[in-house]
Amino acid sequence: MTAPESRPVRIAVVGAGFMGRQHIDFIRASADAELAAVADPVAPSEAFECPVFEETERMLAAGHMDAVIIANPNVLHVDTAIECLEAGLAVLLEKPIAVDFAESRRLVDAVARLGGRLLVGHHRRHHPAVARALTAIREGELGQLVAVSGVWSARKEDAYFSEIPWHSRAGAGVMLINVVHDLDLLRHLCGEVAEIQAMRSSHARGLEVEDTMTLNLRFESGAVGSFLASDAGVSPWGWDQATEETLAFPFIPDGVAYQLMGTRGALSVPNLAKYAYDPSMPGDWHSPLSRTYLPVAPRGSFAAQLEHFVDVARGAAEPLVSAEDASRTLALVEAGAQSAERGTTVDVARFRAELSTARASSTRRDEGRER
Ligand SMILES: NC(=O)c1ccc[n+]([C@@H]2O[C@H](COP(=O)([O-])OP(=O)(O)OC[C@H]3O[C@@H](n4cnc5c(N)ncnc54)[C@H](O)[C@@H]3O)[C@@H](O)[C@H]2O)c1
Repeated sequence: MTAPESRPVRIAVVGAGFMGRQHIDFIRASADAELAAVADPVAPSEAFECPVFEETERMLAAGHMDAVIIANPNVLHVDTAIECLEAGLAVLLEKPIAVDFAESRRLVDAVARLGGRLLVGHHRRHHPAVARALTAIREGELGQLVAVSGVWSARKEDAYFSEIPWHSRAGAGVMLINVVHDLDLLRHLCGEVAEIQAMRSSHARGLEVEDTMTLNLRFESGAVGSFLASDAGVSPWGWDQATEETLAFPFIPDGVAYQLMGTRGALSVPNLAKYAYDPSMPGDWHSPLSRTYLPVAPRGSFAAQLEHFVDVARGAAEPLVSAEDASRTLALVEAGAQSAERGTTVDVARFRAELSTARASSTRRDEGRER
């Protein structure tokens, strides 16, 4: 059932930790949404001025909701999302969609089987600067895209790892927690990645998961890219510092997360500084280079994402980030992990096909065992 237009969409939140509480604030600030319930085993029952449940199952049984935002630990994402889709709710599932590609396919299949409405929380795609950058690329304002580079680096506090144990175990790490956003956005802006090379390091924190990594990318278009990420290194560079999305980060005005280079111009994102040679000159490296800022109406990604989710819940929009799309981002993350492990270049389409084949045969084996 889709939510009616006549009243705010009643949204429950599963997992009221760091991210869940931010979603709650955005729901409260929206005229089109209403906080219906919270499910979290450790949330105090008086904290949210709505019914609070220790278990998602009980919350779903109590009803009175149209949609759910899931912000629990990554390992629970797929089972929780399927449970909520089976209850007929529209779902906004935090990224990453799952802890691995095989698991994400279970959800892709469930969405298809149930005709479910599921949006994955790669919130940056909703940022107005991203939409404007995409237009610049698609409409040839930069000429042909040649290359892209990017950085996400910020030093997380030690308690992030010591007090929340899942942050330092397999299923987390800077790649799955942070770079997954960048790879999703680079796919969105520059198209599918054909090949990936990665190096990762745990030297700064000494944890089971990596704290720092570097990636080389070859896009299907022929453009190439590089990306550097760390949750141990101090830096002003990265999406979170260049936007005012997450108050936990200092805001760097005119900050840059990505630099796009085309045959006729360059663009940095999200500050949308566009560089081009003087059009009256031959237009090569000896010509003066001008900088102009592409105008865009300011809007935060999370508010825009919630507005879009309301439309998805009402059946008025298709999810901008579908399970299938987010699953491809996860395959790319895994291809990067395999590259880092083996020290090889990974062909992403072949890698995805191999993962799908491996999953199909393991499903057949499981079904055989059940019979
Ligand atoms: N979009 C973003 O920029 C962004 C930023 C941070 C985190 N996230 C994502 O949000 C999710 C949560 O991350 P976080 O940093 O808020 O973690 P967190 O540990 O602060 O919060 C997770 C919450 O889930 C609760 N929880 C645990 N088991 C549960 C269960 N069975 N049912 C319901 N709730 C349960 C925990 O008690 C906790 O309150 C993760 O998937 C993470 O990747 C997204």
